[in-house]
Amino acid sequence: MPTPRYRAAEVVVAVLQEGRSLSEVMEALPPGRERAATQDLAYGTLRLAGRLRFFLSQLLNRELDPPDLLGPLLVGLYELDASPTPPHAAVNEAVETVARIAPRARGLANAVLRNFLRRKTELSARAASDPVVSSNLQAWWLARLQRDWPQDWPAMVATLALHPPMTLRVNTRRQSVMEYADLLNQEGIAFSKAGGCALILERPCPVSVLPGFAEGRVSVQDLAAQQAAGLLEIEDGMRVLDACAAPGGKTAHILERHTAEVVALDADPRRLQRVAETLERLSLKAEMRVADATDTGAWWDGRPFDRILLDAPCTGSGMVRRHPDARWLKREADIAQLAKSQARLLATLWPLLRPGGTLLYATCSVFRQENQDQVEAFLATHPEARYAPLEALKTYGAQDGQLLPAAAHDGFFYARLRKA
Ligand SMILES: C[S@@+](CC[C@H](N)C(=O)[O-])C[C@H]1O[C@@H](n2cnc3c(N)ncnc32)[C@H](O)[C@@H]1O
Repeated sequence: MPTPRYRAAEVVVAVLQEGRSLSEVMEALPPGRERAATQDLAYGTLRLAGRLRFFLSQLLNRELDPPDLLGPLLVGLYELDASPTPPHAAVNEAVETVARIAPRARGLANAVLRNFLRRKTELSARAASDPVVSSNLQAWWLARLQRDWPQDWPAMVATLALHPPMTLRVNTRRQSVMEYADLLNQEGIAFSKAGGCALILERPCPVSVLPGFAEGRVSVQDLAAQQAAGLLEIEDGMRVLDACAAPGGKTAHILERHTAEVVALDADPRRLQRVAETLERLSLKAEMRVADATDTGAWWDGRPFDRILLDAPCTGSGMVRRHPDARWLKREADIAQLAKSQARLLATLWPLLRPGGTLLYATCSVFRQENQDQVEAFLATHPEARYAPLEALKTYGAQDGQLLPAAAHDGFFYARLRKA
């Protein structure tokens, strides 16, 4: 049986050397307790992969043969550097994993890892003095953050190294936030209140442990993402388009708060299926459409919308804590590509909004090219569009609609545009 360390090493190789998506690789793993241990090791290693690769480069002066020894060595270095595993156990486990891949490399692995233990203080100091290494981001990414956020980037980089919070959204159609908080107390699940219907758990847990999850009493959704439904200022009976709906967190929140006529659209049929499952769990209903939102002829019946949520495809640079593979798989050219499709979505959906209606543009990115620049360019070419400031976000320290990643939430951007 492959051990969690062996599987974590395979996951790390699949992401770093084969360029595969972490969620796709994780989905293929068998369920069970071993899966959680594999996830902890793989996510932790990928979150710190810049620093760990730097260590390896200092400890080894030749190419790895075979190259997939990178996996167990990085997982071993992660355990020695940042996990509570006792050092001798971490070394032994990593050496055994290396030996399963290439028995002759046992001695080399032993030497590298023991050498790291001896030189840990010196190497950690050197890693800390290099901004790119210590950011655990690609050099272009760090340079963008420095350019876009000259004051805030050091705090942002430090925040991105933390574990992301697990935040619940209480379904207030089913009970009040206080009533659900009581249920958590009865189960001994520690949490703190975060405003609205958000409760942040002290420690992440499987959703199966949450009281009433299967019956739709509660969902998991980041605090920043929970702002969308309120910012839309929906009134009951309104016709609402959720143009990029999957996997459906915001669609569900809108329907929990309002009796609205919601069209949930997404270009990806598999992802839209997840919206259907979520709405079924919560006993909510929306009109589902699989289509490219920009191909309005294929899906729009010509009736204008009172509200449009455009939660656009983006780099996800505000939530790399949850998707540590993005740190290494994204390319700088992706930003311009995504910005182009965001602009196209904005321009195509705007005419579907009735005069006096509101469009909320959202991304989970912190790059200005996808956010502030995008909205400025749109306003410059659409004189009937008015920017409506988002006072409610100031509670979270937002600057012009931008929530920067913080201990309590992901990085997110919102712009509310009203049609004159
Ligand atoms: C950021 S996710 C949306 C998250 C979702 N709003 C939620 O809160 O769960 C972006 C979604 O846009 C979809 N998408 C990308 N391009 C699209 C297009 N041209 N038309 C419709 N959906 C699109 C993707 O399939 C993806 O599901």
